[in-house]
Amino acid sequence: MEKVRLTVYRSSGEGRGRFQEFSVPFEEGMTVLGAMRYVEQNLDTTLAVRWNCKAARCGSCAAEINERPALMCKTRVESLGMDSTITVTPMKAYPNVRDLVSDPTENFDISGRIPAFKPKKGLKKPWVFYERDVERSQEFRRCIECFLCQDTCHVVREHKSGYVGPRHVIEAAALDMHPMDALKRHVYLNREAGLGFCNITKCCQDVCPEHIRITDNAIIPEKERGADVFYDPLVYAIKRLKGENK
Ligand code: SF4
Ligand code: SF4
Ligand code: FES
Repeated sequence: MEKVRLTVYRSSGEGRGRFQEFSVPFEEGMTVLGAMRYVEQNLDTTLAVRWNCKAARCGSCAAEINERPALMCKTRVESLGMDSTITVTPMKAYPNVRDLVSDPTENFDISGRIPAFKPKKGLKKPWVFYERDVERSQEFRRCIECFLCQDTCHVVREHKSGYVGPRHVIEAAALDMHPMDALKRHVYLNREAGLGFCNITKCCQDVCPEHIRITDNAIIPEKERGADVFYDPLVYAIKRLKGENK
């Protein structure tokens, strides 16, 4: 029977971990999560691996496969080449809890700091808006909060710049694009959330399992709005006079 060879990161959550080799029987259509579940059930029941839906919907099984951030349940082992060993490690951007489980809790704190939806003044109830009005932001609402985009972002991962990261830019952009919302979050993003540190490499967009065009449709437009406010002297002066740019 054909075998899948794996190198899996093992750690107690404290100090440096180590790699452990496993070999599991291949089954047609097997995913990396399937291989991990085989290990957990048959070879080493102490392996900590997080999963929930097994259908790329919950984001729980986010990890790094051959050093690329990916969902384990969405990655078929054949797609990685049956001749080579598959390396599975936890997301490196976050504290390691144990083995393949990392703790992305900081993202929920960051979400809490994004200025919330604020309805425009004078709106008459019931609020009416049409599908076409929210079409642009629907893309961002496909986010499953796997945080793979955050994990792959070198600014989030390596520089302590205070940049909130791509997941949170789409969150803010979705609110900004809402037809009933009164706020403009590009000021927050550019002034407080470190958006200027993003250098538009698009790595976040490349790993998103929902194929959200994070850089093209959220980061670049928010940067452009920020540039209009902060670097166009006329716009800056007008907004300043109107008290919109404090
Ligand atoms: S485009 Fe910006 S947010 Fe996305 S990975 Fe690159 S630096 Fe990070
Ligand atoms: S934007 Fe994509 S990669 Fe980032 S958290 Fe949402 S689904 Fe995951
Ligand atoms: S187990 Fe839910 S996304 Fe993989």
